[in-house]
Amino acid sequence: MDVSKACESRFSCRKYQDKDVGNGLIEQCLECARLAPSALNKQPWKFYVTRGEVKAKVAKETQLFGANAFTDEAPVLVAVTVKPRIADKLVDKIKHQDFSSIDLGIAVQSFCLKAAELGLGTCIIGWVKAKSVDKILGTSAGERTKLVIALGYPACEQSLRRRKSMEEIAVWLS
Ligand SMILES: Cc1cc2nc3c(=O)[nH]c(=O)nc-3n(C[C@H](O)[C@H](O)[C@H](O)COP(=O)(O)O)c2cc1C
Repeated sequence: MDVSKACESRFSCRKYQDKDVGNGLIEQCLECARLAPSALNKQPWKFYVTRGEVKAKVAKETQLFGANAFTDEAPVLVAVTVKPRIADKLVDKIKHQDFSSIDLGIAVQSFCLKAAELGLGTCIIGWVKAKSVDKILGTSAGERTKLVIALGYPACEQSLRRRKSMEEIAVWLS
């Protein structure tokens, strides 16, 4: 699958088949995430692949105010953490940026595009009780959960894409 096709076919999947995803497929997604660029090549991310009881606990921490009930159905939840070092936080302050979050977003998209190529569904979940997930994962000091990726075989179709027009998002200057 070429990159355009992967970008077109990826969508937020919120209904999954009752079928596990093999480790080999998940490893391919992780490899694409691993190759992602990051500010100063810091690679501040870590991906926790959860199934079974741990996954069920993580799922509960994504279900705030009735949202994200579909995480119960997804066979795999991948929690993604960042651990910026003190020096990185200083750079962020000077540059008024949050490079770790930008880095993580790029890596997560790489993961999701590969999943789309493999016929897997994903949904990036930001509505997460991060501190509770940290506890479940047993993260180290300064390591924080930022996103959770639901992963599985889709049991739904891609719905109509609602996107801004090209005129709204692109500015060409010369
Ligand atoms: C950082 C981020 C956080 C998101 N959080 C959630 C979420 O908590 N629950 C959910 O169902 N979808 C979540 N989404 C998915 C978006 O709603 C979705 O990407 C958007 O509506 C566009 O739809 P599409 O992914 O199908 O193209 C999130 C997406 C991103 C990038």
